Amino acid sequence: MATIKVNSPNVTYTEEYIESKYDYQTSQVRNGPDGTINVTPVTTQYTFRTERKVPKLGVMLVGWGGNNGCTVTAAILANKHKMSWHTKEGLKHANYFGSITQASTVGLGTGPEGEVYVPMKDILPMVDPNDVVIDGWDISSMNIADSMERAKVLDYNLQVQLRPHMKHMRPRPSIYIPDFIAANQEERADNVLTGSKKEQLDRIRKDIREFKEESGVDKVIILWTANTERYSDLIPGINDTSENLLRSIREGEKEISPSTLFAVASILEGVTYINGSPQNTFVPGALELANKKKVFIAGDDFKSGQTKLKSVLVDFLVSAGIKPVSIVSYNHLGNNDGKNLSAPQTFRSKEISKSNVVDDMVDSNDILYHDKKKPDHCVVIKYVPHVGDSKRAMDEYTSEIMMGGSNTLVIHNTCEDSLLASPLIIDLVIIAEICERIQFKTENDNSFQSFNSVLTILSYLCKAPLVPAGTPVVNALFKQRCCIENIFRACIGLAPLNNMMLEYKHQTIANPIQRDNSSSIIAMKKTAQTNGASGKQIIVSKSDSDTDCEK
Ligand SMILES: NC(=O)c1ccc[n+]([C@@H]2O[C@H](COP(=O)([O-])OP(=O)(O)OC[C@H]3O[C@@H](n4cnc5c(N)ncnc54)[C@H](O)[C@@H]3O)[C@@H](O)[C@H]2O)c1
Repeated sequence: MATIKVNSPNVTYTEEYIESKYDYQTSQVRNGPDGTINVTPVTTQYTFRTERKVPKLGVMLVGWGGNNGCTVTAAILANKHKMSWHTKEGLKHANYFGSITQASTVGLGTGPEGEVYVPMKDILPMVDPNDVVIDGWDISSMNIADSMERAKVLDYNLQVQLRPHMKHMRPRPSIYIPDFIAANQEERADNVLTGSKKEQLDRIRKDIREFKEESGVDKVIILWTANTERYSDLIPGINDTSENLLRSIREGEKEISPSTLFAVASILEGVTYINGSPQNTFVPGALELANKKKVFIAGDDFKSGQTKLKSVLVDFLVSAGIKPVSIVSYNHLGNNDGKNLSAPQTFRSKEISKSNVVDDMVDSNDILYHDKKKPDHCVVIKYVPHVGDSKRAMDEYTSEIMMGGSNTLVIHNTCEDSLLASPLIIDLVIIAEICERIQFKTENDNSFQSFNSVLTILSYLCKAPLVPAGTPVVNALFKQRCCIENIFRACIGLAPLNNMMLEYKHQTIANPIQRDNSSSIIAMKKTAQTNGASGKQIIVSKSDSDTDCEK
């Protein structure tokens, strides 16, 4: 693990905190009556304070025995125990590929050898996923080792090694209300709580407290990775305010879903709650309750595959001045998620969650979309048992190009769904946890505050980001990533990454090491090679007389 120390009068390190003074620069835009757009740069001074002590973290998964739940548990154990296993492709080693905190890097700045990158997890003191203690609930009583076998995601030789670590893991009984998920899930529901809604809520709260006590963790985060539910109706007097919601639970109102009960239990226990599925768990009453109790909530729906790509591709097209006019997405999958989504009411939740992903990008370009007509956007999901967890996503993007021309991109994406979602689960809990240790104040505030209870910094990982009222929704993936990176940088007093690289754009390159030292030439070579996205290798020669060549 790299230790990063920032040398700046604006950054102080105490045993307890990293404190940074930070100029946050924005621009205020006002339209003048004469059509002039007036822009005023604004600088606000923030102080960020990050608690340095990394807690022992417990994660409770709702739907622990599902494909995502058992796969993420297995991945953490395999990494923790440094497991390797043979496949027909050769020896494989456990890793955290697909996790931005564990397997992606962040540019820190420039050094004698060019750009310096560090793992994102090293920017701030974050929880190591290998140290996370996992527990959870499932309506299926199957132990997590058997669930792993049922999921058919991991290689057999790895399963054999993992089994002894997982066979004792049993999900706690859960809240099952058949009306909220597909009828085809009934056969696995053999581990369910009984009693009134209020009694079940109290039992979940007790489970959280018991887990914390028994495992000795310092804090808990709860994440829903259970089946997609149908949407709950929003009914005035029932779930519109926190008071009405709590009363409705006490009175056993039918329209309160299991996921909302879990969210309420979590909020009442002061525990961050993340929704990895598309349904509207966070009815207005739940949002209000989180806000009142100052507990983090985040969601909705993991942004793992097709939608992630969409939020890159449409951003690319629109920002290149190309006009997407039709986006058609077909999926088929054969895991239990696909089975549950084959019911119209649960599919509808997924369809809604996938539908708004291009809105912010389209709204950003009035030149292309002056008529405000959004692209046609259609999503189809079919259940095909044979393909199991190996989901197929086929997308067709048709765009209008110059002078009435047309451009069609067709993409076929095959991937193990749960191996895409598992690293997202890890990032969601690790980033949520560090956010619990970050506080800030502006020059006008007397005391520190935490982030808003709706934790929008997690938008990168969510298909349909939940935001507080009045906040713009950002779906574009790289903007979402920049938000995470730059907030982390702010916490250690570093300016946002602007990619201007002015230091390399002078007539004379300012840093003499870059010109004269042979190591800089190596660095230049390294950069040139890394940038060869086409697979071509570009060699930059040391002497001016050498010719640059491509291989
Ligand atoms: N790439 C992905 O895998 C991906 C991406 C985005 C969203 N999601 C969402 O994540 C969720 C989980 O996906 P999965 O592939 O693991 O599905 P899965 O069907 O394998 O697992 C869901 C588990 O939840 C359990 N369950 C259902 N209702 C429950 C309840 N009320 N309480 C406790 N447990 C309950 C089921 O028994 C099952 O074990 C789904 O809603 C899916 O739409 C998955």
